[in-house]
Amino acid sequence: MKSLWMLGAGLVLMVAGALSGCTGGQSPHPYGLVVDGNPLRGRELIGHYGCGACHTIPGIYTARGRVGPPLYFWSRRTMIAGELPNTPANLIRWIRNPPSVEPGTAMPDVGVTRRQARDIAAYLYTLQ
Ligand code: HEC
Repeated sequence: MKSLWMLGAGLVLMVAGALSGCTGGQSPHPYGLVVDGNPLRGRELIGHYGCGACHTIPGIYTARGRVGPPLYFWSRRTMIAGELPNTPANLIRWIRNPPSVEPGTAMPDVGVTRRQARDIAAYLYTLQ
C-alpha cells in the first residue's frame, strides 16, 4: 500500500515537472519556435521523400530504416551528422544537400525545396 502511494506521488511530480517545462518558456531548445515551418506538412514530406527508408523517426510509423542514425530527441541533439551545430539554418542546409556539407556521405540530395526543408526541420524539432 505504501509503495503504491509513493508511486502515485512520483507520477504527480513527473507530470508537474513536464507541465512546468512546457509553460516556463525556458526550454533549452526552442528551435521548434524558430523554424518558420509547418511540422504537419513536414511529417507528410518525410513520408513522401522516403527519409524513413534510412532513418527511424519517432511519430512516423513507417520510418524504420537503419542506414542512417535514428532521429530520436532531435531537438536536444547538439550536432548534425557530427559536422554542424544543430541550428535550424544548418538543418535546412543539411536536408537540402548533405554532400555539400559532408562529401561522400551516404545521405543523398533527395531534391527537397527550401520551403519543404523548412517544414521537415519543423517536424524534426518537435521530437524531444
Ligand atoms: C539513402 C539513405 C538516406 C536517406 C534517404 C536519408 N538519409 Fe538522412 N542520413 C543518412 C545517413 C547515412 C546519415 C549519416 C550521415 C553522416 O553522418 O555522414 C544521415 C544523417 C541525417 C541527419 C543527421 C543525423 C545525426 O544523427 O546527426 C538528419 C537530420 C537526416 N539524415 C535527415 C534526413 C531526412 C529529413 C531525410 C529525407 C528528406 C533523409 N535524412 C534521408 C541516410 C539517409
